[in-house]
Amino acid sequence: MTIVYLNGEYMPLEAAKISVLDRGFLFADGVYEVIPVYGGRLFRLQQHLNRLADSLAGIKLPNPMDHAAWSSMLEELVARNDGGECSVYLQITRGAGDGREHIFPEGIAPTVFAMVSPMKPVAPELLQNGLQAVTMDDNRWQLCHLKTTALLANVLMRQAAKEQDAEEAILIRDGYATECSASNLFIVDNGVLVTPPKSAHLLPGVTRDLVLELAEEHNIKYAEREIAEAQLHNAAEIWITSSSKEVLAVTRLNGVPVGNGQPGPLWRQMFDHYRAYKAGLHQEGTGSE
Ligand code: PDD
Repeated sequence: MTIVYLNGEYMPLEAAKISVLDRGFLFADGVYEVIPVYGGRLFRLQQHLNRLADSLAGIKLPNPMDHAAWSSMLEELVARNDGGECSVYLQITRGAGDGREHIFPEGIAPTVFAMVSPMKPVAPELLQNGLQAVTMDDNRWQLCHLKTTALLANVLMRQAAKEQDAEEAILIRDGYATECSASNLFIVDNGVLVTPPKSAHLLPGVTRDLVLELAEEHNIKYAEREIAEAQLHNAAEIWITSSSKEVLAVTRLNGVPVGNGQPGPLWRQMFDHYRAYKAGLHQEGTGSE
């Protein structure tokens, strides 16, 4: 039975209910996190909790728990679900007022919800052959650094990509590639690994930061700089990163092969470093990382 957490209590999924006046439902007035769990341990938990705190501050919603309380609640949730390889979804909304008022109602409690979902392993053929992506104009707002539940633009772009037989949409804003509908973007340009700098136009991905840390540790040349659309199309390699996809190579962009159309040598190196990093954490065996 799936056990979820809602407003201070653990309960079966079927028993979890919220008000139709919840501002998450009415206005997408909330934020979320997706945190992978490997070997029963929450991966990069502190980084996810830091970003959660930033997202909450960005929508002016006081953080209902401190890091220690978040950690113990999430660890308890994972334990109650026998979660080995899974991911935790965590959502906080501003709660329910007594009507549909745009202005923040006073004195309402936020809604705090968390659930564990099975982690779908990345399909072997995507690792083997890479994935297809298409470019699309980024039609989202100016606060893309906040991980809010207002994902309709992302959903529509991801769906449009699927309808073109692509697994991901790479987003272009003012002539520059920023990120993707549900992942961050890297390219290999003249032997240098490049990702756009953090800004309000992209989510500061936890996986993105880890890839940069691994590049630093393994002496891979990297730079955080803008990627003009033309550079994207001429890149030797293109990668996407996210908590659920980890690091994947894009091997066709708008139907045209990237490089030789196979996952590139730098991707292979980074993929191995990423896997080794994960395996290393498993062996340490103390607390969550
Ligand atoms: N998506 N950019 C966007 C727009 C995202 O939605 C995500 C993650 C990322 C990558 O962030 P991270 O490495 O911290 O997972 C970048 C999650 C997985 C989701 O919405 O399901």
